[in-house]
Amino acid sequence: MKRIKISVSKEYEVVIGNKLLDESGALVRAVCPESSTAAVISDDNVAPLYLRRLTKSLENAGFSVVSFVFPHGEKSKNAETYVEILNFLAENRLTRTDLLVALGGGVVGDITGFAAATYLRGVKFVQIPTSLLAMVDSSVGGKTAIDLKAGKNLAGAFCQPELVVCDLDTLDTLSPAFFADGCAEVIKYGVLADKALFEHLAERGQGFDREYVIGRCVELKRDYVTKDEFDTGVRMMLNLGHTVGHAIEKLSAYSISHGYAVAMGMGVVSRAAAAKGICPENCAEAIEKGLEALKLPAATAYTAKELIDPMLSDKKRAGGTVNLIVPYEIGRCGLLPTRVEELEDFVNTGL
Ligand SMILES: NC(=O)c1ccc[n+]([C@@H]2O[C@H](COP(=O)([O-])OP(=O)(O)OC[C@H]3O[C@@H](n4cnc5c(N)ncnc54)[C@H](O)[C@@H]3O)[C@@H](O)[C@H]2O)c1
Ligand SMILES: [Zn+2]
Repeated sequence: MKRIKISVSKEYEVVIGNKLLDESGALVRAVCPESSTAAVISDDNVAPLYLRRLTKSLENAGFSVVSFVFPHGEKSKNAETYVEILNFLAENRLTRTDLLVALGGGVVGDITGFAAATYLRGVKFVQIPTSLLAMVDSSVGGKTAIDLKAGKNLAGAFCQPELVVCDLDTLDTLSPAFFADGCAEVIKYGVLADKALFEHLAERGQGFDREYVIGRCVELKRDYVTKDEFDTGVRMMLNLGHTVGHAIEKLSAYSISHGYAVAMGMGVVSRAAAAKGICPENCAEAIEKGLEALKLPAATAYTAKELIDPMLSDKKRAGGTVNLIVPYEIGRCGLLPTRVEELEDFVNTGL
């Protein structure tokens, strides 16, 4: 078992290990000694698999448990589900000393976090991420959100949990497509800041050592979040592959998933960086090989002309420049402010 301390506006731990669902009641009790009711929020894929075990563990630790389960998928991360959760909490008379527990992937984590940030102006919450993406990305850092009709994650709050519990065994039931999707964020951390992590992934592919890899990803995200809790500076580095990736997601009308699109985006920016002499040729080649080892695509069929339009509407754009994150070498990346007029040429060299 690994315990990683996060110190931002609040101190909390990310606990990573096997069979932790059965221990989660005791782990939660240790950080919420005064809470009496735990409201578990989950989706209809995850709840049938894990809700009973979690409920039993919480009850053994003295919590009375109520649960709210909504249909799985991004389409549920909306204002309607959010209000249904708030009403459920109010109907069950949860008070400010009670807590919410998010059991599921990033969708459950994001909407539960936002409900916790706003119900009674803020109650405690615990994240129990069950997807790879949620373990290495969405459950760490305190960003919570729901989608609006106009776009993803447009309403939300910064709200840090009391505790994050990653039970590695839950990954066994995740679909291969969602597992691969999470792998894109995982290898991103290696390219950004950890050559040894990158090499482990390139060598072992999807059979990587889960405790080591997820632990390193959480530590690396922790380091960016600690320096920039409210996402106004260095946390931007986590967008490696994302500016092009978001454009690919949009152009495909979201039929290409986030992770696959980010993988393609990393491929494009690293080949472009190599072509422009920002990183050596073998760095871009290594990134392509690493993506391939994780069964991820490294290229897109979209043209530079098609890609730049959605890139210019990306919310990370600053005036006349787009901030791209590019590799210098494996484990070291930097910001490349690119003028709008130069963007098409840059992207084109990476296709
Ligand atoms: N808050 C943040 O900082 C942050 C960061 C990155 C992504 N996100 C958000 O995370 C969401 C994506 O997360 P996701 O990929 O986990 O999506 P998700 O929550 O939809 O989970 C993916 C699918 O896997 C299923 N699932 C999850 N765990 C399972 C398990 N152990 N066994 C079987 N099935 C399981 C879910 O029911 C769902 O169908 C997006 O909404 C995105 O905006 C947030
Ligand atoms: Zn991402």
